[in-house]
Amino acid sequence: MKILIGSDHAGYNLKVDIFNYLKEKGYDIEDVGTYSLDSCDYVDYAEKVASGVSAGKAERGILICGTGLGMSIVANKFKSVSAALCTSEYHARKSREHNNSNILVMGGRVTTFEIAKYITDAWFKTPFEGERHNKRLNKLKDIENNNFK
Ligand code: RB5
Repeated sequence: MKILIGSDHAGYNLKVDIFNYLKEKGYDIEDVGTYSLDSCDYVDYAEKVASGVSAGKAERGILICGTGLGMSIVANKFKSVSAALCTSEYHARKSREHNNSNILVMGGRVTTFEIAKYITDAWFKTPFEGERHNKRLNKLKDIENNNFK
């Protein structure tokens, strides 16, 4: 499974920790930036990851800014992207089981590395439940098709 990870300056430290954590576990993960603590725009990195996932170049993505809010807002503008801002393991599990999320979003200023590891592990190991959730996701697909080119 190919994974893209990106952050702005506010998510940089947590991104580096999560990147190394996943790399050590053997995940095929690519860091699309930012590569320093210099101030930058979260929009640019959300676009890099979300466009890759949307186009099928990567199966999953991880985005980290200060709160996780900006990254989620941008990522969910891309077709076929379901970006979930998670602050707990429970959010991570449910975002996979119910929402079939394909981008995990976290906030570097609100989530510690210790918690982020639990969130990330839960997110990768939890499958989509399907069944009743497919009907809901199909309604979401209709909205997407009607509102996006
Ligand atoms: C950067 O200061 C901050 O605005 C950004 O990281 C993010 O939290 C935006 O939603």
